[in-house]
Amino acid sequence: MHPDGEKIVLTEEEIGKRVRAMGEEISRDYQGKEILCVGILKGAMVFLADLVRRITAPAQFDFMAVSSYGASTRTSGVVRILKDLDRGIEGRHVLIVEDIVDTGLTLNYLVENLKSRGPASLNVCAFLDKPSRRLAPVDIHYNGFTIPDEFVVGYGLDYNESYRNLPYIMVLRPEVYGKGK
Ligand code: IMP
Repeated sequence: MHPDGEKIVLTEEEIGKRVRAMGEEISRDYQGKEILCVGILKGAMVFLADLVRRITAPAQFDFMAVSSYGASTRTSGVVRILKDLDRGIEGRHVLIVEDIVDTGLTLNYLVENLKSRGPASLNVCAFLDKPSRRLAPVDIHYNGFTIPDEFVVGYGLDYNESYRNLPYIMVLRPEVYGKGK
């Protein structure tokens, strides 16, 4: 494990198995339809890359970037679109792909925003769910794992932009917070 880690929460094997099953489920549900996977940068990038390769239904992908926590582990509640979709989504079957739902503020905003653009359908696929911290309601159609209220990194998730490349999910050692790397 990375030296800044306290414990591994999800191993590479566990993640691979779950992502494969999610891909199969999504493929079944979207039979005969083309999915537009909307990845939320940067955290969902690793999950989306693995997931789309497990989806057998026709799929395209696009990305959005929204404002994030920066170096803090607490949410500000303010959502700002830093990069919007390249194309319109009217009449498309949109699947938002997110790394983790924590307070739900980000996704709640994104769902409302994308709904207003007239997609044929709109579902949410989140790799991790931390339901204990929810402030805004989010309907998660595909959920990888539910985890307790601990700050985790790896598999796309960062602390101050680091650790995204780790192939597993780990909890950071408390001493690492506030190091301001
Ligand atoms: P929400 O708006 O509070 O649901 O925040 C969602 C976003 O916060 C995610 O897309 C992540 O970028 C970030 N986030 C929330 N919890 C964690 C965590 O445990 N580790 C890393 N990033 C997190």
